[in-house]
Amino acid sequence: MKNIVVLISGQGSNLQALLDACQDGRLKGRIAAVLSNNPDAYGLVRAQEAGIPAQALLPSNFASRADFDAALAEEIARHQPDVVVLAGYMRILSEAFVRRFSGKMLNIHPSLLPKYPGLHTHRKALENGDSEHGTSVHFVTEELDGGPVILQARVPIFPEDSEQDVQERVQAQEHSIYPLVVSWYLNNRLALRDNRAWLDGVALPAAGYAAE
Ligand code: GAR
Repeated sequence: MKNIVVLISGQGSNLQALLDACQDGRLKGRIAAVLSNNPDAYGLVRAQEAGIPAQALLPSNFASRADFDAALAEEIARHQPDVVVLAGYMRILSEAFVRRFSGKMLNIHPSLLPKYPGLHTHRKALENGDSEHGTSVHFVTEELDGGPVILQARVPIFPEDSEQDVQERVQAQEHSIYPLVVSWYLNNRLALRDNRAWLDGVALPAAGYAAE
């Protein structure tokens, strides 16, 4: 059984989608641990309820980002992960941390990257009058929200939408595409090479896999 380590900072609805996918066999792996930089993250409760080791490391207990990330990396490594999954992990990662897990770390970001890296993506899409928004699963590289995209999902934006409407529509898509991409990874179908994402030996285009 392959090991998945999940990093969270908040609600953990994507963690829940991964837990459910493990439970019903869509994911041939087990979540070995859930780690957070936020002790109040509700995702920690979800993990505990599923009987999964869950732990928060407090940034304020460490002298620097490098020290925090070194301790986090040790804790992750202890669980011998086949893949490290960032699921709403909202802390910037140091270069050393990213290098250590290069090629085996995935992130989900709530925008159609390269559009809207960083925070408040739904608000930005609304403010710009966009008619669509979405989410991207990508390999994590040293460039913030800049690693090669594996899969995106698009959603419409309607004129009367609030930020929350858009967020909910995006998250519903996240809950189906993230388990799918993690399953590709665990089935050895995905790789990061030459700063590109490869699926089944084929280099994916900039927007990731696109089904006809
Ligand atoms: C998700 O929508 C995810 O795309 C976003 O945080 C949310 C976490 O929700 N991630 C980022 O913004 C990372 N830059 P969750 O805790 O309910 O899974």
